Amino acid sequence: MKDKTRLAVFASGTGSNYDAIDQAIKQGTLDAEVVMIVCDRPGAQVIEKADQNKVATFVFDPKDYQTKVDFETEIAQQLREVKVDWVILAGYMRLVGPTLLAAYHGRMVNIHPSLLPAFPGLDAIGQALHAGVKVSGVTIHYVDQGMDTGKIIAQQPVKIEEDMTREVLQRKIQDVEHMLYPKTIQQLIKEGE
Ligand code: GRF
Repeated sequence: MKDKTRLAVFASGTGSNYDAIDQAIKQGTLDAEVVMIVCDRPGAQVIEKADQNKVATFVFDPKDYQTKVDFETEIAQQLREVKVDWVILAGYMRLVGPTLLAAYHGRMVNIHPSLLPAFPGLDAIGQALHAGVKVSGVTIHYVDQGMDTGKIIAQQPVKIEEDMTREVLQRKIQDVEHMLYPKTIQQLIKEGE
């Protein structure tokens, strides 16, 4: 039997997308294994989730390093040790630099809560509400050196109703994310076989 595809999930916060990936694996709809969580915020909720699932974590504080090259070199080393095939960014609040991009070119994806190229960067949900658009959504894309600029892999729209609150829109977008991310990762894995 073929070995399972080995994923590393990078996250800085809650980790609800990590949860969704973990659920899909447990339910058998995603044929992969999360072998490491990388987190740049000591104390983030996602670390607890990884601990509960007995998944290895690499938690670091960027302030402890002189440069991005320094911490990314260490991350790349950790990923190599556990033989990571794909890097899955899920709320990792940091631009990926050349060290990791070179190591995982074409095997690193991100999820963003808007229909890119609209509303890249921070607070995409707030940006969409402020602009008054009637539709926003979710994008999954390859990671390149830019901010949410890589080649788009999958998108799903979410309607914004009149007077919709931020909380409601955020929930709707997250519901879509939690379905679309595991499904898209599964497709990528299958295509790569
Ligand atoms: C998600 O909305 C994702 O689109 C964005 O950051 C958020 C992460 O949420 N990049 P979570 O930590 O997975 O709950």
